[in-house]
Amino acid sequence: MSTRAADRPESAERAPERTPNQDPAAPRLKSRHLLGIAGLDAEEITLILDTAEAMKEIGGRAIKKVPTLRGRTVVNLFFEPSTRTRTSFEIAEKRLSADTLSIATATSSVTKGETLVDTVRNLEAMSPDMIVMRHASSGAPELLARICRSAIINAGDGMHEHPTQALLDAFTIRAHKGRLAGLKVAIVGDLLHSRVFRSNVILLKTMGADVWACGPATLIPPGLERLGARSTTSVDEAVEGADVVMLLRIQHERMQGHYIPSLREYFALFGMTPERVRRAREDVIVMHPGPMNRGVEIDSAVADGPFSVILEQVSNGVAVRMAVLYLLSGWDGRNDEALVEGR
Ligand code: CP
Repeated sequence: MSTRAADRPESAERAPERTPNQDPAAPRLKSRHLLGIAGLDAEEITLILDTAEAMKEIGGRAIKKVPTLRGRTVVNLFFEPSTRTRTSFEIAEKRLSADTLSIATATSSVTKGETLVDTVRNLEAMSPDMIVMRHASSGAPELLARICRSAIINAGDGMHEHPTQALLDAFTIRAHKGRLAGLKVAIVGDLLHSRVFRSNVILLKTMGADVWACGPATLIPPGLERLGARSTTSVDEAVEGADVVMLLRIQHERMQGHYIPSLREYFALFGMTPERVRRAREDVIVMHPGPMNRGVEIDSAVADGPFSVILEQVSNGVAVRMAVLYLLSGWDGRNDEALVEGR
């Protein structure tokens, strides 16, 4: 449904105001779900990033709202804690005028023994259009995608993928560097347990970046070279001449056993200090997906320093999630052939 010009907040030239369903010429993604970066090609990644540029413009308006998803219902289903992802999906949904609700699993019937599949089947009985989900088990969104009529958006599954985080990271890098191809990106931290790492490596390699992965040998995933990243245990080698330095936190909640001797030693060997940052290019940007552990993977002088774009990443998350919601809204799960074909 298009709006009369008089109803629109300020200029609406650049931002999409109609859903792809209403405009057959509008772009959409090849799959009706976003389960991971794996499965997206360079053209689709570029489409999401370009669409996010238009969405960012909406966030700069006095009235930050367009009617794009009016009449659509989005459920946010988070089985793990989240500050940034859940909040920015909620803001993105509201800016697109979707009806949105967030299920707090701690107060839902999951605590009474209901299975994930039963929970989602019951939610689907109320006809949502999209479900944004975070779950501790790798593959949980894919399981739901097989049985749900709604579009499933993965907001982080176990140690597998966190696609919207990698997309907002790419958006932030592109905003500063103008490109992704050919950049040296050093990712330092707990790589083994990180879904952010996995999604970032796949995205950055797809877009032609040179990815260096650095951490203690115990926290470097086996088979990393298959993803096309170079690995090193030397933080100096990883950071030398880097365009981008991305830090990842130590994920104690996913560790069983001892992977590092102590947090003090980890900081001494891998912590990002101003001295280490000086090895990178003069125009380096320092990134962190959050939550940050100051004094463990990053020194406060770096986190709050001139090269840090950490809060910019958070701001860009809203525009990128608006872009994803918009591009997936073109699929109508009740009629599409893809539903039958299981895409
Ligand atoms: N980056 C990220 O996923 O943060 P949250 O866990 O706060 O959502």
